[in-house]
Amino acid sequence: MSIRPTRPPSWYDRFARSAYETLRGKIRPSSPDQRFLAFSDPNHRLARELRIKVPGTHRHSTVVSGLGAYAGREIEADELVLRVAGLFHDISKKDAPRLFVEAGLGSRQLPRPIGTVEELRIILDHPALSAAILQKHGFPLEIIQAVREHHGTTRSRLSLTPEMRRHIGEHELIYPGPKPSTRESSILMIADSVEAALNHYRRTNDWPAVPTHEFILGIIHRVGTELRAAAQFDDYVFGRFDQQRVEEAMAKFMRRYYCGLDVDSSSKPPMK
Ligand SMILES: [Fe+2]
Ligand SMILES: [Fe+2]
Repeated sequence: MSIRPTRPPSWYDRFARSAYETLRGKIRPSSPDQRFLAFSDPNHRLARELRIKVPGTHRHSTVVSGLGAYAGREIEADELVLRVAGLFHDISKKDAPRLFVEAGLGSRQLPRPIGTVEELRIILDHPALSAAILQKHGFPLEIIQAVREHHGTTRSRLSLTPEMRRHIGEHELIYPGPKPSTRESSILMIADSVEAALNHYRRTNDWPAVPTHEFILGIIHRVGTELRAAAQFDDYVFGRFDQQRVEEAMAKFMRRYYCGLDVDSSSKPPMK
């Protein structure tokens, strides 16, 4: 499967793509794409495996799924793509639960330092490995593409053993990409980073009993700014105005999530 163009997209390519995506959002019929409905079933075989083998990753993925779909609706991105891609974006972690800090139920556990090049490869390749699993199970291309691009070319945040640190250069800790090439991929990347960042903040900082919208938005905005500064939205024109609306929507969603309120009833996929 070839997803990436063979030459880097020109300014015109990116502009044309952006215009197409915007138009596609405007004229998209209100009925959901039937191809996605079967894959949004929480009892799908892969969703069950995720829940049983890596409950922590399942919890994270469920939040990313709801968060991405909710924010996607704000800028007329494809909600169903975001809902399904969010749920399965880390599916390959089910095959290596010990390597991923959030995979178990105890999300407060410290990450185990990575001690071999093979382990490092499994972590850095998890977007491509997840995409391959979804391809094998017949998921639509839009989902596979978003999953493959969800870490872009960001730097992974993992700890290495002292021995590994001596041998591994900084550039070897970068995810291999590709960068997001659609608005859905861009939103999935932000939703994934936002969920992880808020979780990390809660574990390591003072967390207010009742977090305000502004407090959560501040953390989300830092995440979005870092991703933009790391040039993750260069292959696809994901405008600052869209990003701002997405961040606002995410802050609204996450505040309600942390306050135990119903966050998601307005963006559940329609019943068959
Ligand atoms: Fe991931
Ligand atoms: Fe993730």
